[in-house]
Amino acid sequence: MTGPIRTLRVAEVTPETDDAVSVAFHAEESGELLYRPGQFLTLRVPAPDGWAARCYSLSSAPGDARPTVTVKRVPGGVASNWICDRLRPGDTIDVLPPAGRFTPAPGHRDLLLFAAGSGITPVMSILRARAREGGKAVLVYANRDERSVIFAAGLRRLTEEYPDRIQVVHWLETLYGLPDANRLAALVRSWAGADAAMLCGPAPFMRVSDEALRQLGMDRARVLTEEYRSLASDPFVSLAAAPQEPPSDQAGATTVTVELDGERRTFPWPARTTLLDLLRAQDLDAPFSCREGACSACACRVVDGEVKLLRNTVLEDEDLAEGYVLACQAVPLTEHVEVVYD
Ligand code: FES
Repeated sequence: MTGPIRTLRVAEVTPETDDAVSVAFHAEESGELLYRPGQFLTLRVPAPDGWAARCYSLSSAPGDARPTVTVKRVPGGVASNWICDRLRPGDTIDVLPPAGRFTPAPGHRDLLLFAAGSGITPVMSILRARAREGGKAVLVYANRDERSVIFAAGLRRLTEEYPDRIQVVHWLETLYGLPDANRLAALVRSWAGADAAMLCGPAPFMRVSDEALRQLGMDRARVLTEEYRSLASDPFVSLAAAPQEPPSDQAGATTVTVELDGERRTFPWPARTTLLDLLRAQDLDAPFSCREGACSACACRVVDGEVKLLRNTVLEDEDLAEGYVLACQAVPLTEHVEVVYD
């Protein structure tokens, strides 16, 4: 595999609960894996009819010795069951670069975190980074019962080591019933002034957590959510296809200036070509994962001009208002467009 695809060797597979494992990689063998807390990797795993691509959040934090993803078994899930049952130290696995926007911004020091079930994975990465970098965090973590708590020991260690900065409140449904907005709001009322709130878990949990934040009057721009992602197509396959040359009859109408990795470049942007395809054709290392408008790995910000998104199931109105767009779905609407990758 070539281009942005890397092959990582598995260092360790550690059971976390009866149905979740953490997979740590020897990433240093192929150059340091740079990522931000809360991001995910797209893994390529064997499937009965060939290969399957799946996104799994990193549970490690930048600076940890080994980048690690944590995977919970999904009933009938081809990839998660293969990882939980078959993956062994020494095996290799192809991955796409770390991606995702569920990551604290530079000004986000004090965090209010909500997680349920395996939604803890990116939140654990964020907590570990918070412990190392400073700032405070409180986590409300919902699970069915004590046995289903992933990272129980790791969370305890963090709260013991940083009692003034890290707090974890476990919500066990066997004790308290399903979480509801009123009780969640009461629980975190004193944290309503946090720099950001971050939510990850199944849809019903996200809804009640979000409602709790509305009750507390939390500014919507400070609320970040992470949905579970499933990919309808295999990004490794589309990546293997050669970048398309723009058709000549489309060329020249629009120019785009792109700022990526500290470099600024300007190109013609054909009307029906997506920004991601254009950048790949120009050999720029623009991030992406699903290419379906569903994961936000390719998000960048339009600072001048306008684009149209062919599909968007992930960016919210607040993101769009700030100029964020999906490069894999963006086609130009104005004569000049300028985009930056933050
Ligand atoms: Fe997933 Fe563009 S690559 S939304």
